[in-house]
Amino acid sequence: MAAYTEETVTFVKHYTDRLFTFSTTRDRGFRFRSGEFVMLGLMIDGKPLLRAYSIASPEWDEKLDFYSIKVAGGPLTSVLADIKLGDKVLVGKKPVGTLVLDALTPGKRLYMLATGTGIAPFASLIRDPNTYERYEQVILTQTCRQVAELQYGYDLVRDTLDDLLVGEYLRAGQLIHDAATTREPHTHAGRLTERVADGSFFKDYGLPEFNPETDRAMICGSLAMSVEFKKMFEDRGFIEGSVSAPGQYVYEKSFVG
Ligand code: A2P
Repeated sequence: MAAYTEETVTFVKHYTDRLFTFSTTRDRGFRFRSGEFVMLGLMIDGKPLLRAYSIASPEWDEKLDFYSIKVAGGPLTSVLADIKLGDKVLVGKKPVGTLVLDALTPGKRLYMLATGTGIAPFASLIRDPNTYERYEQVILTQTCRQVAELQYGYDLVRDTLDDLLVGEYLRAGQLIHDAATTREPHTHAGRLTERVADGSFFKDYGLPEFNPETDRAMICGSLAMSVEFKKMFEDRGFIEGSVSAPGQYVYEKSFVG
């Protein structure tokens, strides 16, 4: 039996020459937890070529959303970048991942720390009502090089404000969206690691410093950023969690891009 199902592309939007999002149909038997990733790909020269992709839609949604970079000459993304409505993509049958609510112990605040397309699993989680039922405050932060790369996150949060299931939580102020750039001027600028270290990130939103008693964190993005945050949380006494042993922070080890 094939390890994947064939799904149909139902939506495509290009954000920059390097970033695009698309949606596909979802097999009725496909189950996953918000925040997980799955193998996704195409038949290329008669052979399946699949890579790990975070599912950017919540577990209750009828469709599947993805957010991707295009790598010039990349075997999969350079072909995937040309997909059109009605095209077929392959979606693996076994979703996995550590960025799930069940890998964290209860707390007051949930931080979602992303760079670039690392926002994708959080696009899933901020549309899941369980996120707001478990945490009083949810802080989504995305850092990109340029302002244009933040647009997906802005569109996501704006659309989620009107969402029938979770819009009321956002309208009540339960979600903070921090969008920052590192290579162009913007309201919020600089690497998040540095904004956290100098305290400016917390001051911007009137938040207390990270505290393992009250705060939980999920990290997804550039490897260098994940490594730095992992150390920062460990130094502050946070314990890494997993579904079998929930803790105070988790990070995505398989993320590339
Ligand atoms: P910077 O522009 O200072 O490198 P990339 O496009 O290379 O994947 O990076 C995405 C974003 O992640 C960029 O804004 C980049 O900042 C930032 N970044 C890269 N490494 C780190 C790190 N170690 N800590 C925090 N942010 C980082």
